[in-house]
Amino acid sequence: MRPIEVVDRLGRWSSGRGPLYVLLAARLRGLIDDGELPPGVLLPPDRALAGALAVGRTTVVAAYDLLRAEGRITRRQGSGTRVAGVATDGQQEDAPVDPLFLDSLEARDDGVLLAVCAAPVDPPPQLAEAFARIAPELAHVDDDIGYYPYGHPSLRQALAERYTARGVPTRPEQILVTNGGQQALSLLAHALVSPGDQVLVEAPTYPGALEVFREQGAVLRGLPVGLDGFEAAVRERRPAVAYVIPTYQNPTGSVLSALARQRLAGAGVPLIEDEVPGDLGFPGEPEPMPIAAYGDAVISIGSLSKSIWGGLRIGWVRAATPLVNRLARLRAVHDLGGNIPTQLAAVHLLPLLDAPELRETLKTRHDHLYKQLTQALPTWEIPTVHGGQCLWVRLPYGDGTSFAQTALRHGLAILPGAGLDITGTSNAHIRLHYRAHPNALTEAVHRLAQAWTTYNPSATHPHPRPTIAI
Ligand SMILES: Cc1ncc(COP(=O)(O)O)c(C=O)c1O
Repeated sequence: MRPIEVVDRLGRWSSGRGPLYVLLAARLRGLIDDGELPPGVLLPPDRALAGALAVGRTTVVAAYDLLRAEGRITRRQGSGTRVAGVATDGQQEDAPVDPLFLDSLEARDDGVLLAVCAAPVDPPPQLAEAFARIAPELAHVDDDIGYYPYGHPSLRQALAERYTARGVPTRPEQILVTNGGQQALSLLAHALVSPGDQVLVEAPTYPGALEVFREQGAVLRGLPVGLDGFEAAVRERRPAVAYVIPTYQNPTGSVLSALARQRLAGAGVPLIEDEVPGDLGFPGEPEPMPIAAYGDAVISIGSLSKSIWGGLRIGWVRAATPLVNRLARLRAVHDLGGNIPTQLAAVHLLPLLDAPELRETLKTRHDHLYKQLTQALPTWEIPTVHGGQCLWVRLPYGDGTSFAQTALRHGLAILPGAGLDITGTSNAHIRLHYRAHPNALTEAVHRLAQAWTTYNPSATHPHPRPTIAI
């Protein structure tokens, strides 16, 4: 197993009390006992794991020694360090390694400031009001079993009207309501990608999308954000699908020009445009047209998770009706449809996507984080953005993965760039989001600055400029 895969599984291992080697051994023990690291799995060599965790080699050796004494691992010259026991069917290969997913599965009470998953930290007051508004509707439900694999007709209708108002004429039959943007992606990957198919993605991109394509056995191909070379890549690679985040891209915050959108729509490949961060423009920013406005074959996905609240789990797909029908059949197999009271409330929440308050708060928090960071860490490369929820920061030396480990030991969990980029060109980056309250952002910067003063990567050369190849 590669060091990065072990590191992702270790999660916030260093946040407890006691010597680091004991904490490391404890987390590895847990993974072995739970079967996450099953018998026979090869663990990273001491030096490689130490480098990835930004600890001394002796810490890893001492942790491995403890586990060997307990009989949980074996260490042999020549054949490396393995989990003890006889290898079975390697079923852990199916488990997700995406750091976002693993982080969301961890306990939230260890005193670590969480800056990994970017989403609203508190829902707006209109959320409770929307549920209060639908209570009388629920009291009068009659002759309705409540199973709607396509989504409730009223929300499909409201979403279709919103697309139409944005310049993309849409009928309700073209909308599938999903459990968040993630289920939309997962269904699309199931429907459109077979093992061995090539999928074009931006490098870097949203790691949750990489995970669903990987789960389908896709061969991922990366293009730089901005998608230069897209048509040539489509011609040469013949991808089954291309995935792009056109507006306030996650993680870079960039926005595709109208010309690029037109080019993409006409490139002759099924294109998934992920508009999940699309409603997060700062006040006064122009709202770009969806790529779907430029071509009938474009599939759009969206969600209320970043504009209203992730806990709603409301997302959707807009596509041609035959594809929507196929996705609904797939979806019915998984869960027979989503939660209807939440969908009814969502109808009342949709107008909030255009309300100025959210955008003003985002801009204030962006400015706050940006100012604090540039003051405390003047050597970091920190581009500003015009919307979205993240800053994509380039460290002047070292690598994001080992720095994230150092930050963790200072009580801050951040997302290193490596897991977001299949071309390996984002290793020097970290992703920081500004969804938290200003005082939490100030504290996060304080912890980052402390971590940076102690950070001592093995290679301290400044980074060369990356080149992206597909
Ligand atoms: C670009 C992008 N797409 C999709 C998702 C998943 O959205 P949801 O939380 O609605 O499942 C996210 C969440 O971070 C995202 O950033």
